[in-house]
Amino acid sequence: MEVVPLSSAAEAGAVAADAIEALVRRRPDAVLGLATGSSPLPTYQELIRRHRTGAGPAYDAVRCFTLDEYVGLPAGHPETYRETIFRECTDGLGIARDRVRSPDPSPDGLSDAGPRYEAAIEAAGGVDLQVLGIGGDGHLAFNEPGSSLASATRLKTLTARTRQDNARFFGSVDQVPQHVLTQGLGTILRARHLLFVATGAAKADAVAAAVEGPVSASCPASVLQLHPHATVLLDPAAAARL
Ligand code: GLP
Repeated sequence: MEVVPLSSAAEAGAVAADAIEALVRRRPDAVLGLATGSSPLPTYQELIRRHRTGAGPAYDAVRCFTLDEYVGLPAGHPETYRETIFRECTDGLGIARDRVRSPDPSPDGLSDAGPRYEAAIEAAGGVDLQVLGIGGDGHLAFNEPGSSLASATRLKTLTARTRQDNARFFGSVDQVPQHVLTQGLGTILRARHLLFVATGAAKADAVAAAVEGPVSASCPASVLQLHPHATVLLDPAAAARL
């Protein structure tokens, strides 16, 4: 694992954007794994800024897989992670929406949504670069503490803490869905490069546990330590407990 302390969230975003651009220049049909949340926002904003000024690579041939999705929101709801990733990342890079795949939360297909998503990732040749953030309790995607380190994409129940953390997007905690589909920790570990971004003091304890604590299901993000090519980008506040 390469831990890179940076001077600010904006710098972390710029360094992450450099890594994504370098991959897409090298491999225009790269498979990108995209995370939602506030952590990767500066990265996506920087990619879009460069793309708009003509400085970035072409993204037309890129394929994307998102990490996770809420279950129970109507299709097209602005807080679905599918809509969020269109709005915050892929639309701004000119990536066609049918090139962005996300776990399918429709009620009819829920029982085999996980295996279908795993098969789609495998059919695409696997994820070349996976962008990751971290939850305040150390969760990765929606793999809450206690998740199997080898888990695959599956249905999960959110903890009260994560629903509270995400209530800011919904107006009240009651409106935050209880269930989600999430890539498993095993799925994430199969990506060829993990690009992890954490910023802000609220992440400092989780980052310390993930980077320096034991590899354990009680801190799902500690699986980063098992990956042969993980890059950890931190601003000073997120790095404060290392
Ligand atoms: C959600 C997402 C995670 C994300 C986490 C942290 O729970 N499922 O993928 O890493 O939030 O979000 P933020 O970066 O907004 O703190």
